[in-house]
Amino acid sequence: MSASSDSHSNRQTSIHRPVLVREVLRAVDPQPGQVIVDGTVGGGGHSREILSRIGPSGRLIGLDRDPAMLKLAANAVSGANVDLVHASYAELTDVLEQLDTGPVDAILLDLGLSSDQLAENSRGFGFSTTAPLDLRFDVTRGEPAWQLLERLGKAELCTLFQDYGEERFAAAIAAEIISQRTQQPIRTGQDLTEIVDRVASSERGARSDRNSAARVFQALRIAVNEELGQLEKFLNSVLEKNLKTGGRGAIISFHSLEDRLVKNAFRDKHRFRVLTPKPVIATAVEQRANPRSRSAKLRVVEKR
Ligand SMILES: C[S@@+](CC[C@H](N)C(=O)[O-])C[C@H]1O[C@@H](n2cnc3c(N)ncnc32)[C@H](O)[C@@H]1O
Repeated sequence: MSASSDSHSNRQTSIHRPVLVREVLRAVDPQPGQVIVDGTVGGGGHSREILSRIGPSGRLIGLDRDPAMLKLAANAVSGANVDLVHASYAELTDVLEQLDTGPVDAILLDLGLSSDQLAENSRGFGFSTTAPLDLRFDVTRGEPAWQLLERLGKAELCTLFQDYGEERFAAAIAAEIISQRTQQPIRTGQDLTEIVDRVASSERGARSDRNSAARVFQALRIAVNEELGQLEKFLNSVLEKNLKTGGRGAIISFHSLEDRLVKNAFRDKHRFRVLTPKPVIATAVEQRANPRSRSAKLRVVEKR
């Protein structure tokens, strides 16, 4: 954990369009003077709205695993009552202990990838990037995706694509990766996309629609960032421990693996009261305006 420092991007402001903003504000209901955590602050889209409602007497704590995102967030939210911290939301207990806040009024997570990260070629998040296929949110730790593609065996790759990508051509894609990498290393997003598209179109007997590539990239990203492990840790102990009684936890997820974990954890009646019996989804207007919002699901609880 450390304060925000370097950036990989020269961009000063975020291009990310936050999803479900109105719905988050309605659910979290930020009030002047409250202490609120944005555990995935990103470009600060949600945080900006929260900060304007909690006002100068409130306190906003924004976390991100990506130092480059903290730099963008600092342009959206700043002031004596804002702390931006380089840490995973799974480490929130330690962060709040260091900041000496005590339990907070609300915690928001908006999971996954921001459009700023996707747009940055050097991060290797895009299908056609020519930079090394990294896919880590925090490039200061862990293993980049290209190394994983080099290290894992066929069965491991197949399981990874099945479990984290729910990809039906997982076995064929894993086999092709093994065969290709003996001839030439798979280093970039473009290299991987070419392989996946080729396998998917030959399996489907048609031109590939890029969905397989999306699922394979998702699987690798989940693996290199240990995304499900981070979320489980947060749901099992961190959320409840750091919320006041009556405090609100709001989580936006973008795929079924995450949403299932959230839904199951929120079912625990001893710890939480569910405020969203069904997940909140984006309106038709938002879905049209921001395609990323189409897969977003918001679930909210109150701590008992
Ligand atoms: C969808 S974006 C958040 C966008 C933000 N709500 C906004 O309005 O700009 C998700 C962010 O979460 C960060 N992230 C992913 N996993 C994280 C984790 N375990 N802890 C903290 N941040 C994480 C990513 O680096 C990314 O910046």
